[in-house]
Amino acid sequence: MRTTTATIIKMKGTGEAIPMLTAYDYSTARVLDELEIPMVLVGDSLGMVVLGYESTVYVTMDDMVHHIKAVARGAKRPLIVADMPFMSYRNGKAETLKNAARLIQEGGAQAVKLEGGESVAEVTRHIVSNGIPVMGHLGLTPQSVYQLGGYKVQGKTPKKAAQLLRDAKALEEAGVFSMVLESIPALLAKLITERVSIPTIGIGAGVHCDGQVQVIHDILGLVSDFHPKHAKTYAPLGDLAASAITRYMEEVRSGAFPTEKESFRMNPDVLSELIQYA
Ligand code: KIV
Repeated sequence: MRTTTATIIKMKGTGEAIPMLTAYDYSTARVLDELEIPMVLVGDSLGMVVLGYESTVYVTMDDMVHHIKAVARGAKRPLIVADMPFMSYRNGKAETLKNAARLIQEGGAQAVKLEGGESVAEVTRHIVSNGIPVMGHLGLTPQSVYQLGGYKVQGKTPKKAAQLLRDAKALEEAGVFSMVLESIPALLAKLITERVSIPTIGIGAGVHCDGQVQVIHDILGLVSDFHPKHAKTYAPLGDLAASAITRYMEEVRSGAFPTEKESFRMNPDVLSELIQYA
């Protein structure tokens, strides 16, 4: 049975913390599915960790659909939330709904996520009223990185913190089933979490959120050029991969790979018949 938005909302009531991770491909989705993670995010962070862009603003609808499809083939039980990419929800309600529907119908996600507060409340309401669950995203909103002037902690002044509280209430009223709080002070995240009825999912927002989300490459040590403060490396898979690849190259060069075990035998009769032809 797939996790539903109702199950996620209920988890806030019962106090059961909600773990969420990103996935961008079939194999990772299979692992997360088997481990029974309740929610998977096909984040537009794929633009940076998979496609090598300097920010998420280059990610297109086609990129998102391509990766959501792969994740949907592997993740049968988690709720799959898909990011609406840069500008895909800023060109009027009709185009926004068409794009959200594509991520669900063509991609195979069950919910969409979009960045912003009061400024996206109206389109959020429109998507929700057409039957598509929406997750909000407040605080550090990476699609606005050029306006924010970098990946900085948000909501540090009373005025900016108050705006984030208003944004959270606006999203709740617009009907989101949960919201990501990214890179804001832990006590502000606590206040927002207490003031909204739907679950907050933190990333760099402290321990008081109802759940946590991380980019899977960060927790597995797969990205070496940038390690955000909020990310903890649970396994140095990048280092392990480098030593495995080094050994592979050495063994190919020395002739130690492949051995009999990785090779296929030929029936001696076939070989002698072949020699007659060759
Ligand atoms: O794109 C993404 O992975 C995200 C998370 C950082 C929340 O939006």
